[in-house]
Parts: sequence; C-alpha cells; structure tokens
Amino acid sequence: MKIQNSVALVTGANRGIGRVYVQELLNRGAAKIYVAARDTASLADLVKDGDRRLVTLPLDVTDPDQVAAAARVASDVTLLINNAGYAAFDGAISAPSMDGAHREMDVNYFGPLSMTRAFAPVLAKSGGAVLNMLSMLSLVSLPMAATYSASKAAGLSLTRSIRAELGAQGTQVVGVLAVQTDTEMGAKLPEPRMTPREVVSAALNAIEADTNDEIVAGAQSKGIYQAFVADPKGLQAKMSSKLPQQA
Ligand SMILES: NC(=O)c1ccc[n+]([C@@H]2O[C@H](COP(=O)([O-])OP(=O)(O)OC[C@H]3O[C@@H](n4cnc5c(N)ncnc54)[C@H](OP(=O)(O)O)[C@@H]3O)[C@@H](O)[C@H]2O)c1
Repeated sequence: MKIQNSVALVTGANRGIGRVYVQELLNRGAAKIYVAARDTASLADLVKDGDRRLVTLPLDVTDPDQVAAAARVASDVTLLINNAGYAAFDGAISAPSMDGAHREMDVNYFGPLSMTRAFAPVLAKSGGAVLNMLSMLSLVSLPMAATYSASKAAGLSLTRSIRAELGAQGTQVVGVLAVQTDTEMGAKLPEPRMTPREVVSAALNAIEADTNDEIVAGAQSKGIYQAFVADPKGLQAKMSSKLPQQA
C-alpha cells in the first residue's frame, strides 16, 4: 500500500523508533497519523508545530479499555504500526523476579495481539496493513535479554499467524527484524548501532512495496541475518556467551 494519503496509527509514538515513524510518515504524505502514547503529555514536543495531520491518542497497549477506545476513535486507520516495546534486559534465572518477563510479554506479545484484534475490522474496510516491530532476537536468544528475546520470538510466531488469518480480508502484515538501534532501549546493547531512520525507512519501503512477509531492516541487520542463515547454531552459540552479568 502507498503511504501517501494513508491513515496511520503508531504505538509508542513519543520517543525512539516510534517518533521517527511519525516523522517519516509525514514526509511520505500520510493524510493523518494517530500518535499514540501512554502519556499524551510526552507527545507535546512532537505536535508543537501544529501539523493538523497529527492526532494524539492516549494508549497503553496493555490496557484493554484503552485499546477498545482507540479502535472506536481511530476507525479510519489503514496502517497499524505496532511499535511500542519494553525490554527488562534481564536473565531468565538471574532476574530478581518475573515482573520484567510478564511486562515484556504484556507489551511485546499481548499488546500487538490485542491491538491487531481490535483493529482487524477497521483494516478490513481498506485492506490495509499491519507493521509489527520484531527483532533479530525473534530468531536467536540473547541470555542478557532472555525474556525479551522470548517475547519477540512469540511476536514473530504471532505475526505469521496473523498474516495468514488476515490474508482473507487483504490485509498486508509486515514483521520487522532489526538489530541494535540507537534509542533508549538500544543504548543497553553494544555498539555499533543502527539509526532509527534506517529501520523505519526499510520498514515503510516494505509497506510501499506490498511486501507481505518479515523483512530485515538495515545493513547491520542484514549482516547478522546472513550469519544466522549460514549457521544458525553458530550464531546462537555466539549469543549464548552474552550472559546477564556481562551486560
Ligand atoms: N532499539 C533497538 O535496539 C531495537 C531493536 C530491534 C527492535 N526494537 C523494537 O522496536 C520497537 C521500538 O523500540 P525503541 O528502541 O524505540 O524503544 P524505546 O526507545 O525504549 O521506546 C519504547 C516505546 O514504547 C512505549 N511503550 C512501552 N510500553 C508501552 C505500553 N505498555 N503501551 C504503550 N507504549 C508503550 C514507550 O513509551 P513510554 O515513553 O511511555 O515508556 C516508548 O514510546 C520496540 O518494539 C522494540 O522492541 C528495538
């Protein structure tokens, strides 16, 4: 689908990769963008220039009432971008409790599931598209982000089933695999890091090319993905050496 004249909704639009999605959607001529955030005050900077295409939306993706309200208000959405994410950066065993693991599943797995279920009837009107921010850690596990990796693997599995189910209504579903990117979340991962712009450009290019698949975003991600394809167990062994205490 074309971004020009689309109506997009970006979760976690206030900072990081989400914020760059909003900027790039504006550049590519989106007609309207629902900029969703847990705290709409955190969007003040983004909307300060008064671009009338930006509509703020209070949205915690783990809150079923807010998700339902968003689907009622944003009933003209043609492109749903499930970007919001959370990483506790903890080990599976060494984490002090399972709170971080639960929150990761809530935000990274149940969030996109609940959003896509709520917006499926909205998207059916136009065919539309769903873009899910996944991770290279959907494919390999990083022990220093053990439970995050598991949540992103769940996100990949979900993305594939959603694609199959929404195929009947003509909804395109893109999953974005990316390595460390320069945001607050990415700051906890080793350098070098990709720019959010690289990730967002690749993802929106895939939407515009009518890709209905996972994509590997950016040159650095492609290098790691090639290593994964050539030797999945070898790459996992390398990742397995990154234990929580070495973070
Ligand atoms: N950065 C990387 O290295 C990297 C690599 C691959 C994939 N990703 C994925 O890309 C996406 C964006 O990551 P990022 O690097 O931009 O992360 P970030 O800088 O940590 O920003 C996370 C965003 O998600 C929002 N969020 C968290 N929990 C939420 C909830 N319950 N409801 C709604 N919004 C919520 C945050 O809002 P608040 O400000 O309210 O906390 C923030 O806007 C995530 O899905 C992440 O897993 C990131």
